[in-house]
Amino acid sequence: MPRVDYTTFDLHPMTMTLGAEIHGVDLGLEVAEDQFNEIRRAFTEFSVIFFRDQHLTPDQHIAFASRWGEINVNRFFKAIDSHPVIAEVRKEPDQETNIGGSWHTDHSYDQVPATGSILYARQVPEIGGDTQFASMYAAYDGLSDGLKRMLEPLRATHSSRHAFGRTAYRIQQYSDDVGDRLGNPDAATQDADHPVVIQHPLSGRKALYVNPGFTIRFSGWSDEESRPLLEYLYRQATKPEYTCRFHWQKNSLALWDNRATWHQALNDYPGQRRLMHRITIEGVPLE
Ligand code: SIN
Repeated sequence: MPRVDYTTFDLHPMTMTLGAEIHGVDLGLEVAEDQFNEIRRAFTEFSVIFFRDQHLTPDQHIAFASRWGEINVNRFFKAIDSHPVIAEVRKEPDQETNIGGSWHTDHSYDQVPATGSILYARQVPEIGGDTQFASMYAAYDGLSDGLKRMLEPLRATHSSRHAFGRTAYRIQQYSDDVGDRLGNPDAATQDADHPVVIQHPLSGRKALYVNPGFTIRFSGWSDEESRPLLEYLYRQATKPEYTCRFHWQKNSLALWDNRATWHQALNDYPGQRRLMHRITIEGVPLE
């Protein structure tokens, strides 16, 4: 059973594997050290934590994010005009494409992938627009010992080229629909190799570290050789019992661990607007 012995707030686990809602914290205030330490423990134990009814200015959002480390400015997302370190995740009523609409983990294409992301809901659809999360600890733990042994020494290559580079914009309809929400395709040149099984820097637990959004192959294998095994791992990782789903309200905030989870934003709210502000936190090299 997940531990819920927190003293500075109430914590409600969402599933046995990941996700917890935290009640009784005001992130707009300077969070006291003992409370912050407990939030960090909850983040480590539950991989994604959620807060509701937070009334944050962009500066307060930045102040909370800065408690976790340096801010990593995403080079592809449009930033909000007043604060270049806050990325906008937006979909207008007349747009079809949502950002982050398939399973991925943020920034795995970077040499040093981001620790996590802090997503704050400024405007949400009346119905729909939830985000799903999947636990990469559960995905790893659920593999057979034989497959675990085979994966341990492997590395995989991650890339942003197909997602944010010039090729992504080849289809005119996609390019028109995305509009100014994404850009800078010439920055999508750097690929990264990471272990397929990482030891999580905070928990010490093993986690599967490949994802459908950005992993392109096992290092030293061809794409064709890699595909069947990657697809097996992707099916394994999204077993419903390894996932949780968050229903946003205006002023909800989520903080997820990019090393221990995947996420996807559901695109099920045609004709409605959804506006989120995201800040991503720098990470450490993965081993
Ligand atoms: C993202 O992939 O960072 C966006 C997730 C969301 O909008 O729910």
